[in-house]
Amino acid sequence: MQRTPLIAGNWKMHTTIAEAKELAKAVAAAAQGLTDRQVMIAPPFTAIAAVAETVKGSPVLLAGQNVCWEEKGAFTGEIAPAMLLDAGCTMAIIGHSERRHIFGETDTMVNKRTEGAMKAGLTPILCIGETLAQREANQTFAVLERQTREGLAGIAIAEPTRVVVAYEPVWAIGTGKTATTEQAQEVHAFVRGVLAELYEKNVASQIRILYGGSVNSDNVDALMAQSDVDGALVGGAALKAESFTRIIRFQ
Ligand code: PGA
Repeated sequence: MQRTPLIAGNWKMHTTIAEAKELAKAVAAAAQGLTDRQVMIAPPFTAIAAVAETVKGSPVLLAGQNVCWEEKGAFTGEIAPAMLLDAGCTMAIIGHSERRHIFGETDTMVNKRTEGAMKAGLTPILCIGETLAQREANQTFAVLERQTREGLAGIAIAEPTRVVVAYEPVWAIGTGKTATTEQAQEVHAFVRGVLAELYEKNVASQIRILYGGSVNSDNVDALMAQSDVDGALVGGAALKAESFTRIIRFQ
């Protein structure tokens, strides 16, 4: 199964509007003409509209770093799917480990966000990942299976290319410690197996599974060479035009 690789930059709580525009300009230049892979960036909410203007006409896709399941209303601090679409996004990161572990988001919330995003026509990037304690206690697969099943509970998938899963071991995020290529491939193949149980095998084989956690210009090629690694979700290295450009141009 041929899956189009997706390189996604998560800018987290970084960049002013001016900085965002400058970085986005470099990303758009790096992505120009690339047809065998997709490039996505998730600026902070305040910069999405300006970045959308900057990348107009380029193949760069935009994502929200989170999205609410409600369409509108009294939900202080949340962002509606239609607001992201309006600002120029086609995707949304959901259930990032920082949301889960710092802000207490549960699998139920992640499930509702995923469902709401898909209903509105946004492509979710559903993030899953085990903590170091869970890995050391041999709970990695159980945790990932639970997060995958609960994150997608009750959700039908009509277009498998418009659902993305990101495996981000919590111990690898922002730590400089990357999963080995073997660890990444092992987990990705396992998650694809869970998806094949939830849906059909041919659906599971079309869903992209990204790896995230200290991806950089030195390790991206080896990670992307793994058969079930379909892209990267990049934090720190996405904030520098030079390193993100190299990551986009993985071989
Ligand atoms: P990192 O972050 O690349 O800085 O480890 C990845 C992420 O949190 O998506």
